[in-house]
Amino acid sequence: MAVQKLEHPILDYKKETPSSQVFMEEAKKVMPGGVTANIKYFEPHPVVMKHGKGSKLTDMDNKEYIDLLMSYGSLVTGHGHEQVKNAVIEQMDRDGTWLFGTPHYLEVEMGNRLQKHFPSMELLRYTNSGTEATLLSLRLAAAHTGKHKIAKFEGHYHGGYDQMLVSVNPSVKEAGEEEAPCSLPESKGMHPAHARNTITLPFNNLKACEKILTKHKDEIGAVMIEPVQAGFIPAEKSFMKGLRAITDELGIVLIFDEVKTGYRTCLGGAQKLYDVTPDLTTLGKAVGGGYPVGVVGGKKEIMMHSAPSQGSDVFDSSQSTRSSSKDVLFHSGTYNGHPMILAAGMAVLDILEKEIDDVMKRTETLKNGISEMLQKYGVQGEAVGIGSIFSVVLNKDKIRNYRDLQKTDLATRKEIDFRLLGKGIYVKPMNRYSISTAHSDEDINKTLEAYDEVLREVYGGPRF
Ligand SMILES: Cc1ncc(COP(=O)(O)O)c(C=O)c1O
Repeated sequence: MAVQKLEHPILDYKKETPSSQVFMEEAKKVMPGGVTANIKYFEPHPVVMKHGKGSKLTDMDNKEYIDLLMSYGSLVTGHGHEQVKNAVIEQMDRDGTWLFGTPHYLEVEMGNRLQKHFPSMELLRYTNSGTEATLLSLRLAAAHTGKHKIAKFEGHYHGGYDQMLVSVNPSVKEAGEEEAPCSLPESKGMHPAHARNTITLPFNNLKACEKILTKHKDEIGAVMIEPVQAGFIPAEKSFMKGLRAITDELGIVLIFDEVKTGYRTCLGGAQKLYDVTPDLTTLGKAVGGGYPVGVVGGKKEIMMHSAPSQGSDVFDSSQSTRSSSKDVLFHSGTYNGHPMILAAGMAVLDILEKEIDDVMKRTETLKNGISEMLQKYGVQGEAVGIGSIFSVVLNKDKIRNYRDLQKTDLATRKEIDFRLLGKGIYVKPMNRYSISTAHSDEDINKTLEAYDEVLREVYGGPRF
């Protein structure tokens, strides 16, 4: 269907966000591109926010938005939740400080609660981000198997370091055969060896994966997967079960990167929904409810490689004769298991254990509403995802992987997102949408009303 262009949504957006534009000009004098994380940037300039509460954000021009990004899914209890805030303040008041540099009871209490929801985590470690969690999981897998190559799926993101910054968003023209994708580096400055040592697999294609993994079985120590690609393209059940069986058979550690899906597909993550037990799991985002955290957990025999009682490490200066290849796997960090963050994490779990069903129901209402509306306007597409994160995909057929996604109508999706910004719905153009405990029925209705107006502007009147 021909897209009806009323005004240019990006020009409207520029007119509506003048203070953000001025701010970004100043920011560019301090930071490259004006941002300290490239994900915060989009053209012509990002919206700069100055206040957040519950489901709402307010920008530098005092415009209020319903937040559908929720800081890339981390704010699962919304902005500034009083219970989370008070938990952090109480921890500092109770303990007298916010950092001990020693073991702390919250590490164990939070660990027990995580293990209840993720029984596959026989032992676990905390990190400060999802990136650090996936990085540690790869080292654990290599130490355990003695095999140093890794495999990941085309289109999956696991953090911005060289080993994993491969074929996340590759040009399909350069990415080779769908059944045997090339490994393409995603950043300047990466050592070319990483594209050789990280093998790329096609998502939801078990036969092709089996072929590649079998060929490299003596080199690949770990397969890492986003069980729901980019938070909205689910692995097919038979694919997941098959991948588990193949990795078991070939002696490869299977790592579920549940940084996006943890708490969001359900409290126990995608592994619970799929009823598949990975060897290692990584968590992040929602676990901290907006505070920086990561978790790696899994089989005791793998996790124990990092136990200091197994040997000495680089910080053990009394052991100058240590043998690094035999001694303990190095894992450390000044802020790992930060009490403030674990206190926040405990409060997030308290809230979610009570309210998760409501979040799921509201997300379902929003998803169904958007899908029905697309039908009403005669648009081929739907809202796809599991649990409290989803995306809107404009396509005739179901999408199963990265290459399918590239064939969808991404230009119109971007236009819809810019128009949503104009109507007070905060999204990052082209990103997925996340719902929190703070989103009310009214927020969902308002979002649906905005979607209706946007689709009318983009596609003209309803078809029926
Ligand atoms: C699946 C997945 N793994 C790892 C990461 C990295 O997490 P962080 O941004 O906390 O370092 C992300 C971040 O988006 C992610 O989505």
